[in-house]
Amino acid sequence: MSAAARAVKKIESLRDEIRHHNYLYHVLDAPEVPDAEYDRLLRELRDLEAEYPETVTPDSPTQRVGDAPIGAFTTVEHELPMLSLDNAFTADELRDFHRRVLSRLGVDEEDDGIAYAAEPKLDGVAVSLLYVAGRLERAATRGDGRTGEDVTHNARTIDSVPLKLRGSGFPERLEVRGEVYMPRDGFEAYNARALESGEKTFVNPRNAAAGSLRQLDPRLTAQRPLDIYVYSIGIVEGGSLPDRQSAVLDQLTEWGLRSSPDRRVVEGVDGCLAYYEDIGKRRPELPYDIDGVVYKVDSLADQRELGFVSRAPRWAIAHKFPAQEEMTRLLAVDFQVGRTGALTPVARLEPVFVGGVTISNVTLHNIDELNRKDIHIGDTVIVRRAGDVIPQIVSVVASRRPKGAAPVELPERCPVCDSAVVREEGEAVARCTGGLYCAAQQIEALKHFVSRRALDIDGLGEKLIAQLVASERVRSPADLFTLTKEELSEMDRMGEKSASNLVSAIEKARTTSLPRFLYALGIREVGETTAATLAGRFGSLKALTEASDEELQSTDDVGPVVASRIHSFFAESHNRDVIDSLIEAGLTWPEHEPRQPAEDGKLGGKTFVITGTLSEMTRDEAKAEIQALGGKVTGSVSSKTDFLVAGEKAGSKLAKANKLDIDVLDEQAFLALISR
Ligand code: IVH
Repeated sequence: MSAAARAVKKIESLRDEIRHHNYLYHVLDAPEVPDAEYDRLLRELRDLEAEYPETVTPDSPTQRVGDAPIGAFTTVEHELPMLSLDNAFTADELRDFHRRVLSRLGVDEEDDGIAYAAEPKLDGVAVSLLYVAGRLERAATRGDGRTGEDVTHNARTIDSVPLKLRGSGFPERLEVRGEVYMPRDGFEAYNARALESGEKTFVNPRNAAAGSLRQLDPRLTAQRPLDIYVYSIGIVEGGSLPDRQSAVLDQLTEWGLRSSPDRRVVEGVDGCLAYYEDIGKRRPELPYDIDGVVYKVDSLADQRELGFVSRAPRWAIAHKFPAQEEMTRLLAVDFQVGRTGALTPVARLEPVFVGGVTISNVTLHNIDELNRKDIHIGDTVIVRRAGDVIPQIVSVVASRRPKGAAPVELPERCPVCDSAVVREEGEAVARCTGGLYCAAQQIEALKHFVSRRALDIDGLGEKLIAQLVASERVRSPADLFTLTKEELSEMDRMGEKSASNLVSAIEKARTTSLPRFLYALGIREVGETTAATLAGRFGSLKALTEASDEELQSTDDVGPVVASRIHSFFAESHNRDVIDSLIEAGLTWPEHEPRQPAEDGKLGGKTFVITGTLSEMTRDEAKAEIQALGGKVTGSVSSKTDFLVAGEKAGSKLAKANKLDIDVLDEQAFLALISR
């Protein structure tokens, strides 16, 4: 065999193997090999086909995204119309349908053993797939049922649409019909990405599936997570199919087409109702949206006898679930304040029954979402609750906006504590600035205040803080310093011993340092390092609170954002009141005079490395001191290092500094240097 002949054989066997894995994965939902192996096979095939381009056929698994973008959609006339379904909204309507079936077929009402093929009714886009000699020849949307659009280039990109049927025995021309849909998780991931990159989002998975299938460029469709379930047949020529709906779908599955794993054959109305109830219960956890179930008379002979009226068959009916989208009126928008001060708009609605529950409040994420959706008070809005997904406002019905309806405005003051609300430029979230004072933020603020790197009050955990806040014994951090042993020992799970330990821990925390205190205030963006830098530069709380924007920004690591956070924090009188009461409660720390801004300080131009454990201060504090005096601190020792500050247990950095003959300062020498 020549090398070329061997390659052709290999190409064929790789294609078969890949198709087999496709079938296992998409149709049987039982993959046999990991994704990486599948990818490897596909890559091997791609490489071989690149070497022997004359072997490439349109049904090769490598050719899914092969088509060039089309210029415009062409229409397709359906040889057999694609029908729609009548709906039943209640069990009684279903019984009426069943009675009509029985009477048309001349079956006795007592003897209602009619078999129905039941399956979920997916919320997607109906498509027709035409296979000629087992190869996908054309895919078309349903359109109005008589003419649809040719979407072959896009359908080919859907992995669960086989390009070639597996096995044998299929009719020469076979038209398969089904629903292309977007699974819910794929829909949410797609929207999240679209939102981030500022692209258009879809209001629901159905629209997403329709929009994705209506792309001119198949490369775009290929990136959308689409899937298909087939549910019926159209043209059958040059061959035959089984004589029951359920057996037809079994056969299609054998040929590699995907049908719903939840389809069942049920008997009579009772069987239908039990199925309806079962699928209804599982609706929230199904990975895709459904709007009902469909029952089809299983016998195709009976189907032929029943025929159809206008555009719907007499042998099938859709039994609908409560809608997942409804309209209602938006009465007001309130703002809730979260634990970190973020304001979240909440829409108050005229109660509406949607997705199986009554909804009267819907959270909107932030003010941007309000603006994007152009929500006004009094608007008629579309509310959606699919599965167990949190309800949301999909859109407003612009044509129903009452005259003079006002847009929603961000409040200027916090609805909880009346502190100022700020929203930094370019940020979606608006926040209450009363971090220390606001009841909504108290637990979070107190937790941070007592944390190890802040005031370091041991034994004051979240549960205890929550109790103290709930009992209103503690409203602000200053109240911690008035807690008594007696009060504490009355709290849940507090013994006398732990109460007295806690009181001494609080007592000890009364004497602290300015960096710790600044960090404990929980000013946004002011972490430990920035707190230490600010303390080093300004020396006292007073100097810091009075600092101008320019002065703040002349501090290392402080840019316009941090400066504005500091400003708005100290500008809020509620926060200043809390600080005053902390000082009144006896909180103290050493202060010093403000130091020169970095560049012209006395350590100007000098580069330091800090290593080991210092006893008088943390490494961050030491770094801040150096920076405040104009020096630079880097992470590793090199020939450019001027001083190594070496605390206890200094290791390799000390060795390296010695080797490079760099000045080494122990803690005492360092303290002497900075205090000089
Ligand atoms: S049967 C005559 N089965 O519902 C057969 N339709 O309202 C007509 N649909 O256009 C279709 N899931 O897009 C059938 N399991 C299912 C379905 C289903 C969704 C859609 C389909 C059809 C529409 C009719």
